[in-house]
Amino acid sequence: MRVGLITGGGDVPGLNAVIRAVVKRGEGEHGHQIIGFRNGWKGVADGDVHHIGRQEIRNVLPTGGTLLGTARWHPHRNDGGMEAVLATLEAERIDAMIVVGGDGTLHAASKVAEAGIPVVGIPKTIDNDVWGTDASIGFDTAVSIATEAVDRIHTTAESHNRVMIVEVMGRHAGWIAVTSGIAGGAEIVLAPEEPFDIEKVEKFLKHRHRAHASFSIVVVAEGAVPAEGTAMQYTTEVGKFGEIVAGTTGERVKAEIAARTGFDTRVTVLGHVQRGGIPTPADRILASRFGMAAIDAVTEHRDDVMTALRGERVELVPIAEIAGKVKHVPPDLLEVANALA
Ligand code: F6P
Repeated sequence: MRVGLITGGGDVPGLNAVIRAVVKRGEGEHGHQIIGFRNGWKGVADGDVHHIGRQEIRNVLPTGGTLLGTARWHPHRNDGGMEAVLATLEAERIDAMIVVGGDGTLHAASKVAEAGIPVVGIPKTIDNDVWGTDASIGFDTAVSIATEAVDRIHTTAESHNRVMIVEVMGRHAGWIAVTSGIAGGAEIVLAPEEPFDIEKVEKFLKHRHRAHASFSIVVVAEGAVPAEGTAMQYTTEVGKFGEIVAGTTGERVKAEIAARTGFDTRVTVLGHVQRGGIPTPADRILASRFGMAAIDAVTEHRDDVMTALRGERVELVPIAEIAGKVKHVPPDLLEVANALA
């Protein structure tokens, strides 16, 4: 078989581990040819083929980024995009596509599947918000980076008696904020799932600083928003693809807390640091499992599915089912973050 492979959307640590697994298993075990395309769906539309064989995947398991490049570009949202994609797939005699992506890229994959191309998706996003899977590639690494940052912020916050705001990624879901907040012992976690009341934040900080502490850590997801009808109001600033402009939410929250409490307040925006560098062992393992499951699914003609972690097992879920849904942080996890403040 000739199997096409792309990585799309925001990059995450662990993409090269997926590519390696698909190529090793696909070429070595099944005798397929893996045809990579550069820069996600854009590269397919442009016919930008990048040969990816055993030679190219040597020593890539621990590396960050993606050998194939990536882009935020969706064929069904661009005039002539779908036609261009289908024309390339026909010209390259592609029998099936493996698509590694987050919600946007996988949504596009389901559209390509509807057009008759067998597709297997693999979920990746540091935001961990792809519906239907317990985990997505990249999330574990991002949480490690964010937790280390919160740990480091702690010592300087305490030395200077400051309120430190740490802005982490998480557009629609606050997985990184909640988990790094719990792991790093943040005093307050603001996540999109639970719109906040700035007056309560102010009250909590004033009480804490009066009663027993001279510093506080507030972890803010970039997608956190104030509750309707409360004292502070803003809407998050988004780019062309709904991606949030890093830093804007953290700065707003910082300015408001500083003005209301009078405490010395600083903000640290982790931004793309969370998406760079070497993947954790957990992400390398998840990527290897998903890559292998995807190429095996293609081989067995179990098409139009996405690999998903369900408990201890990797399963296949219909790709059409996940489109347009967001996996939110469950209330019990939010409660842990709030209760241990
Ligand atoms: O989709 C993952 C994500 O990391 C979001 O949390 C964030 O809003 C966005 O990517 C940033 O995108 P870009 O790299 O295009 O600035």
